[in-house]
Amino acid sequence: MKAGSGYSLRGRHISLALVALVITTVLLWTWEKNPLAITLRSAQLQYQISSSELLAKAPTDSSKPTKPTKNIEEQYSHPIRTDGTKKEKQIVNAAPLKSMSAHSLETQDIADVASSSSIKVCNYAKGRWVADRRRPLYSGFGCKQWLSPMWACRLTQRPDFSFEGYRWLPQNCEMPEFERFAFVKRMQDKTIAFIGDSLGRQQFQSLMCMASGGEESPEVENVGWEYGLVKPRGAIRPDGWAYRFPKTNTTILYYWSASLSDLQPINITDPATNVAMHLDLPPAFMRRFLHRFNVLVLNTGHHWNRGKLNANRWVMYVDGKPNEDKKLAEIANAKNFTICSVVRWLDSQLPLHPQLKVFFRTISPRHFFNGDWNTGGSCDNTTPLSGGSKVVQDGSIDSVVEAAVNGTKVKLLDITAISQLRDEAHMSRYTVRATLNVSDCLHWCLPGTPDTWNELLVAQI
Ligand SMILES: *[C@@H]1O[C@H](CO)[C@@H](O)[C@H](O)[C@H]1NC(C)=O
Ligand SMILES: *[C@@H]1O[C@H](CO)[C@@H](O)[C@H](O)[C@H]1NC(C)=O
Ligand SMILES: *[C@@H]1O[C@H](CO)[C@@H](O)[C@H](O)[C@H]1NC(C)=O
Ligand SMILES: *[C@@H]1O[C@H](CO)[C@@H](O)[C@H](O)[C@H]1NC(C)=O
Ligand SMILES: *[C@@H]1O[C@H](CO)[C@@H](O)[C@H](O)[C@H]1NC(C)=O
Repeated sequence: MKAGSGYSLRGRHISLALVALVITTVLLWTWEKNPLAITLRSAQLQYQISSSELLAKAPTDSSKPTKPTKNIEEQYSHPIRTDGTKKEKQIVNAAPLKSMSAHSLETQDIADVASSSSIKVCNYAKGRWVADRRRPLYSGFGCKQWLSPMWACRLTQRPDFSFEGYRWLPQNCEMPEFERFAFVKRMQDKTIAFIGDSLGRQQFQSLMCMASGGEESPEVENVGWEYGLVKPRGAIRPDGWAYRFPKTNTTILYYWSASLSDLQPINITDPATNVAMHLDLPPAFMRRFLHRFNVLVLNTGHHWNRGKLNANRWVMYVDGKPNEDKKLAEIANAKNFTICSVVRWLDSQLPLHPQLKVFFRTISPRHFFNGDWNTGGSCDNTTPLSGGSKVVQDGSIDSVVEAAVNGTKVKLLDITAISQLRDEAHMSRYTVRATLNVSDCLHWCLPGTPDTWNELLVAQI
């Protein structure tokens, strides 16, 4: 859990401690009147479970080193070579969570206990990649129903698939093996929504494949119409997709919003109109359907450059008017402003939607070497983890998103450093655009890295 919500956590600690005190008192009283050991033991057990849960999610900020200051965009224009020269610190093997009896908790300030140095805090973004023969979680041939052919590397000329056989092992975290039946059961009557750019769409397709096991699933219903996700006349594709697993009434959907800002054509009768990009207004789709979501996963990043803005005819608007602030007009500032706006709005909405959990997924790293996407850049390495397999840093590389969610109830889904180690797992030269002799070192092969993002998401839902 993100550290910032210290205030509400503290509140929870206090109320939990009070509840515990009352329960214990009542139990002790009952015990004296009627010593049924079994009752007390099960109550204690329950209490221990909830307190260790609490400890596992305890705030970490006080012990967190300052995050790296490297600007992410800068990093992309000068990609880090994963040639093995990077130094790696040894991962310190952590002791398991100290288990505590209900008794000791009664008499101590839980917050103090949680921040004591003997307890290792779970950080899913820290750990290592390990080879695992149970990967991939679904077949790149089999999952035709959900995978775009352009991302199914098994359907391309690519000859090497060693990238499929790895699993992320977080340090100090319990991460149960993904099990699709248990997953959809747990998500019974629930809706998981992805809103973001094409990397969010990859994560959506990945989750559809994971949830269906990559098997033909004719029973899964297309319910896009419920969310207005139908292909407009003349369009190449709809703005998103929504599918429902009828047995458990689990819905998984994706909506394309590459900037996470609301887009409004300025002149609807003009086919070549500019589009107002309201930096301080979340996408209408998100505002309209938020009450129906149980899990919302956001992402943005790769459309925040002049080329994309111009190509989309996006014009920055703030407060309903064209932006005139020169500082804000700089792309990096506009991006940060938009991310902070959407996070602030969601943070204000979360108390009104107690069923909802919101995750902001950090940026997915690109790996163009010897050029950029349009200047012959490529990512031809096929040896997994040749640049190392571990992430040892505490903070996120994506400092913009990390700072935006800090102190809010929006959770960080930090996949940047993890994915940075997987330069061999992109579409690379097997992209559909290969005839143009360009490589796609932005999108990932599926099955592949986005499956891990979903494993981390599912572990934190
Ligand atoms: C399916 O789940 C939704 C909540 O996401 C609920 O409103 C609806 O009633 C459920 N439908 C059925 C048939 O249980
Ligand atoms: C909107 O676009 C139409 C078609 O190009 C044009 O005729 C009209 O003048 C435009 N309206 C405004 C307010 O610019
Ligand atoms: C991002 O925006 C927030 C709020 O608008 C501001 O407080 C913060 O300093 C900005 N961060 C950067 C890196 O520009
Ligand atoms: C494709 O690009 C690579 C490097 O970007 C170059 O070496 C190669 O000659 C190009 N191939 C063709 C057919 O243009
Ligand atoms: C989060 O916010 C707290 C309090 O404002 C600050 O001390 C801490 O450095 C922040 N952490 C990050 C990662 O930005």
